[in-house]
Amino acid sequence: MPTSQDMLARFDTLYAVGDATIDHTHREFLELCVAAGEAEGAAFAAQFHALFAHTQAHFADEEARMQASAYPALGEHRAHHRNLLGDMDRLGQRVAAGRSAMARAWLNDNLPQWFDLHARTMDSALAVHLRQQG
Ligand SMILES: [Fe+2]
Ligand SMILES: [Fe+2]
Repeated sequence: MPTSQDMLARFDTLYAVGDATIDHTHREFLELCVAAGEAEGAAFAAQFHALFAHTQAHFADEEARMQASAYPALGEHRAHHRNLLGDMDRLGQRVAAGRSAMARAWLNDNLPQWFDLHARTMDSALAVHLRQQG
């Protein structure tokens, strides 16, 4: 699996879905993943929290657009979001308690994989739907 840094470097080829808002948010998301991965010591907790807050807003925005456009796959897409937010919340609580090892491993191993799949399937399908809605 490529790192968040690789994913950002190859964003246009691999992850651009053609919706300016989604693509902008996804770049910011990957930039925050990179920043958290590079943060040391106490700075890690702040970066992990920033990534969590950004992800909550990112998902809420997509879900609002799905709702507004009566997107048929809203339930499935939202479930995928909620699953990730649940993991991030649990890991964030460990980080806040000074235990960052699991969150770091997850950030390196699981999150890039989650984003790779989610962006190329669910978010790209959403972008097609939004485009068709005009
Ligand atoms: Fe997204
Ligand atoms: Fe999404």
